[in-house]
Amino acid sequence: MLQVNNLKAAYGKIEALHGVSFSVNQGEIVTLIGSNGAGKSTTLKALMRLQPPESPTVTGGNIFFHGSSMLKTEPHNVVGKLRMTLVPEGRQVFGNLSVVENLTLAAWTNKGDAKKDLDYVFGLFPRLADRMKQRGDTLSGGEQQMLAVGRAIMSKCTLLLLDEPSMGLSPLLMYEMFRTLKELNKQGLTIILVEQNARMALRLAHRGYVLDTGEIVAQGTGEDLLESPDIKTAYLGGH
Ligand SMILES: Nc1ncnc2c1ncn2[C@@H]1O[C@H](COP(=O)(O)OP(=O)(O)OP(=O)(O)O)[C@@H](O)[C@H]1O
Ligand SMILES: [Mg+2]
Repeated sequence: MLQVNNLKAAYGKIEALHGVSFSVNQGEIVTLIGSNGAGKSTTLKALMRLQPPESPTVTGGNIFFHGSSMLKTEPHNVVGKLRMTLVPEGRQVFGNLSVVENLTLAAWTNKGDAKKDLDYVFGLFPRLADRMKQRGDTLSGGEQQMLAVGRAIMSKCTLLLLDEPSMGLSPLLMYEMFRTLKELNKQGLTIILVEQNARMALRLAHRGYVLDTGEIVAQGTGEDLLESPDIKTAYLGGH
């Protein structure tokens, strides 16, 4: 579905990705793990074709989506036509809109039955249903995180990119979030998951890649990476 070949990306003159290669098959959950500043968010922003200054400039390599290069694809077409959606770090819900308005707005690419999808999202996140009329900026951090994922579901994407979806969630809500992602994947959604919580991400994912200062330094099935002594020491707190 997605093939990233020797991708290089820079912020101004500073190269942040030094030739990153990885692939994602349809129906997979693939996780990118790595330390702070490794280039995980940069990779997701480059895939979405987001533009500088917040996002990097792609300076080399290529990204293929279903076999076609997407380097010239405009960001709105990445969402609307290729049906890739990013839930960015820090959520970015519309603070002055209600929960239900946030969700409905996200359905602009969705030519299907938005009402049905809304019910589906409320089924996944009953907390959002309880707070349907509440303004986005008055939701708790965890509720905003659910709303951000709910918006992605409303967009009917086929490839979902998640940047730290567990950030700020209590252990119970984190567990629920991961269970929801597993459920969405079972229903056919392909997911690229960036996570600080590498252990949980590797348990959930079919495969994983380890990024270190802009390069892929290890890859394997979630299980293999969880069992690897080097990965354990460097990224999983040594246990
Ligand atoms: N808008 C920007 N302008 C300049 N440099 C940036 C910008 N965004 C990120 N960088 C730099 O690019 C490198 C990779 O950052 P990135 O945000 O991709 O890391 P990350 O792996 O997502 O880290 P974290 O786990 O802390 O979120 C870092 O050195 C960072 O300082
Ligand atoms: Mg990041």
